Amino acid sequence: MSVLLSPLLPTLAALRATRLCPAASGVLASSRAKPRLSLISRHLDQKLPLPALNTPFSTERNVSVEPDDVEYKPVQRTYSAPEQNAPRDLAAAMSAQAPHPTVLIPGPIEFDDAVLQSMSTYAESHVGPGFVKVFGETLTLLRQLFQTKASSSQPFLLAGSGTLGWDFVASNLIERGENALVLHTGYFADSFAACLQTYGANATQLKAPIGERPSLEEIEQALKERDYKVLTVTHVDTSTGVLSDIKAVTEVVRKVSPNTLVIVDGVCSVGCEEIAFDEWDLDVVLTASQKAIGCPPGLSILMLSGRALEAAKTRATPPASYYASIQNWLPIMQNYEAGKPSYFATPATQLVRALHTSLTQITSKPLADRFAVHRAASQRVKTAVSELGLQQLATEKENQSNAMTAIRLPQGLTPPDVLPKFFQKGLVFAGGLHKEIASQYIRFGHMGVTVTDPKRDDIDRALSALKEVFEGVKK
Ligand SMILES: Cc1ncc(COP(=O)(O)O)c(C=O)c1O
Repeated sequence: MSVLLSPLLPTLAALRATRLCPAASGVLASSRAKPRLSLISRHLDQKLPLPALNTPFSTERNVSVEPDDVEYKPVQRTYSAPEQNAPRDLAAAMSAQAPHPTVLIPGPIEFDDAVLQSMSTYAESHVGPGFVKVFGETLTLLRQLFQTKASSSQPFLLAGSGTLGWDFVASNLIERGENALVLHTGYFADSFAACLQTYGANATQLKAPIGERPSLEEIEQALKERDYKVLTVTHVDTSTGVLSDIKAVTEVVRKVSPNTLVIVDGVCSVGCEEIAFDEWDLDVVLTASQKAIGCPPGLSILMLSGRALEAAKTRATPPASYYASIQNWLPIMQNYEAGKPSYFATPATQLVRALHTSLTQITSKPLADRFAVHRAASQRVKTAVSELGLQQLATEKENQSNAMTAIRLPQGLTPPDVLPKFFQKGLVFAGGLHKEIASQYIRFGHMGVTVTDPKRDDIDRALSALKEVFEGVKK
């Protein structure tokens, strides 16, 4: 067992600030950040003959800044339809959407037409009766999605991305100097730890080898060694495709350290992996709109237990964030769900409508069926991958997520060698993201309509493409 403190990333905040605020971009561009940002932009861009693909490789974490930095000039990004000899763009035929390459990255994912169309509404007041009703119903639908009936559970729905969920946890549920145990199964644990440290918490990472997860014995041992205010676990780490057993982890926590809050990062799992919030006694599950829930990016979604709300209420110090403050949002969420207009900050009205539509669709059928469909599709992909002689990052069956598959490339190949080939066939896969092995694998997301809509044949096309691209290259 190795317990490591994650290094804090001083440039991450600068990068985020630049993304969010164009004005800051100019300031940063003229400062020391410029070479670094330029490097990051370049590495997210591609000097390929094809339009840009999702090949982030690693992140800024291991980029070294050389003094030879030159001005960044973005590649032209225009999509031209797949080549003539490629299969016709079936995604276009299967939906009313404009022809486009089928997005099979681990989020954002393909949209259902009705979800997209529900965003195309006229302007409305965010405190008018129509929207208040939609928002309130959406919160109630979230309770169904998370399988919670406890009156003490509280959904939160904020404009923002999944990352805002980390800030929400770090600024409300832990205080400066308190301890957080971060179970590490890939990139997203590093980032959650960095977020916790940003707010002054002591984040200790319990790391597993790549493709594995910390064992229950290691977790128990770590919990016995120190008092932890929170334990965080990434349900599906999108960088490795490793699935964590959050039910078993929570049982260990309740046995050894019952007051430790169990925080689940479910950004890549809610909507496709089973989560029984009450039954498993979870404290926070945070997620985002753009993965298995099937909406555009832009919504940060959280479910909190009564225990978590109590921890926020009894803090010794004020919440460390204004926008992400439970104090500020709790009455708003309660009012909306009670059908009363309320305002703290303007909600993303169109996105909330899209979420209402997708949650209505999801909860109109038994959730168990939805999870089974994802398991079956994932199994199909994983079997096909292994028949091609390819390995996954997650080697144990019980560690493998149903949301995505991280496929190791045959020796000597890197994502830019293969992703353009898939793109020519009208399919977008993602490059590797784990900093130590980013150039050695690709990621295939199989969530939402791609697997639940019987009219779509995304998986058939993807498996044929995998075969064509990798056939003959046995490991
Ligand atoms: C597991 C996990 N956690 C957190 C995040 C951050 O979410 P966002 O990019 O929406 O801010 C992601 C994004 O892909 C993720 O996969």
